[in-house]
Amino acid sequence: EIKQSAEYNFNYNEKYRPLYHFTPQYGWMNDPNGMVYLDGVFHLFYQYNPYGARWGNMHWGHTVSKDLVNWEYKPYVLVPDKLGAIFSGSAVIDHENTAGFGKGAMVAIFTSAGERQTQSIAYSLDGGKTFTKYEGNPVLTDANIIDFRDPKVFWHAPSKQWVMSLATTQTITFYGSKNLKEWTRLSEFGEGLGGHGGVWECPDLFPLTYEGKTKWVLFVSINPGGPNGGSATQYFIGNFDGKTFTPDTMSYPLWLDYGRDNYAGVTWSNVPATDGRRLFIGWMSNWDYANETPTQNFRSAMTVARVLRLVHNGEHLVVASEPVKELESLRREAVLLGDKTRTNTSDAITFENFLPNNQGAYELTFTVTPNETDSFSFALENAKGETIKYLFDGANKTLSVDRSKSSVAFNANFAETLIKAPMVAKKSYTVRLLVDKSSTELFVNNGEVVQTNAVFPSEVYNTLRFNTSKGTLTLNNVTVYKLK
Ligand code: FRU
Repeated sequence: EIKQSAEYNFNYNEKYRPLYHFTPQYGWMNDPNGMVYLDGVFHLFYQYNPYGARWGNMHWGHTVSKDLVNWEYKPYVLVPDKLGAIFSGSAVIDHENTAGFGKGAMVAIFTSAGERQTQSIAYSLDGGKTFTKYEGNPVLTDANIIDFRDPKVFWHAPSKQWVMSLATTQTITFYGSKNLKEWTRLSEFGEGLGGHGGVWECPDLFPLTYEGKTKWVLFVSINPGGPNGGSATQYFIGNFDGKTFTPDTMSYPLWLDYGRDNYAGVTWSNVPATDGRRLFIGWMSNWDYANETPTQNFRSAMTVARVLRLVHNGEHLVVASEPVKELESLRREAVLLGDKTRTNTSDAITFENFLPNNQGAYELTFTVTPNETDSFSFALENAKGETIKYLFDGANKTLSVDRSKSSVAFNANFAETLIKAPMVAKKSYTVRLLVDKSSTELFVNNGEVVQTNAVFPSEVYNTLRFNTSKGTLTLNNVTVYKLK
């Protein structure tokens, strides 16, 4: 009998154990699954191996939160069976009892990964504590498609049906159902459009409002073929009529997060209209090196929970993402480093020991104004000479991250060259950086440009250094919050 994750005791002193990101107590974690809100509780299930800290034996782990910040461990809910391991999928609340499992049942829709990949369902009548697999599983099969997985389901009110987005090799196929048990093919999307450097996985189709109008966004994770190598999440913006997704004419691929460590993220279902947010969480790793990161008892963390919005970045629409406001409850003492201007010198602006008693979990915010489009950088450093550097290049419209010297060595793919994101040049940039013991999440201009990158420094970073290519740089309201 394998121990439930919730029975393990661990302490946060473990070197790379994040202080405020969700990690399994013991074992391996990848994709977030089955995210659903019910009766004041946000459920997060996840790809989980309870037997060890590498991928395999996939179960659905489970955790819950009232505020998307503090997570309570729960026993895993779905274990492999004769149809196969339990791969990624989603969960819905069946308010109208369309499936006949009970009014308000929580229904999980997931991939059974055996010899073939097929889609199965399971229901919970006790608010997500335990699930019963449907005896008619699998509910959706295909004789020909090998990569056939990651069902994400929502209720589409105008066409009065459940709609499933499913990854089908290098396209997304949409299916419709009245009862979650019988599915009909609606349409297929993606041939010849977007990134095709790898297999398509973990789709999510959902509406977002822009200037009072509804737009539909389709997330598609892809591995490999990300903008900076390995796995990453691309998206399309368009319209969905209950049958077909029609993308707006834009220059695809667009990427949700140009950093290396935000994959397979999808959004919560059943979030009440009174909340109204489109809430997201991603897996903070990359298939390039996920199985080798230098942790022992567990592997991988989730990103912080984020809110998605459609915004115009000056050139085109983008899906912006920002930490949920509840995250501010983690802020402890604030250290005001203040305003600084550098004029015509070559000296860096340096803040040494900027957060005394630094445990490796903090948030940094500031506004920075370069001289026209002069490039500038800021870096976090430690006494071992390890550093992660952020380079803003307005002239080349690029925001690059250099983490090649940030961490202990563990995998050549991790110490890649610059991690680049397109960035529309602005007069000023607002910068928010969330740092935890093994991660950095950068949000520029309220999430218009995002870079999430794991780091494994041998000790915490405690120096902050700004530099410019030319002389002038203005910093305003440089603030550090200790988190937790
Ligand atoms: C994405 C993924 C999914 C699959 C799961 C298996 O990271 O490959 O496509 O369902 O992980 O753990």
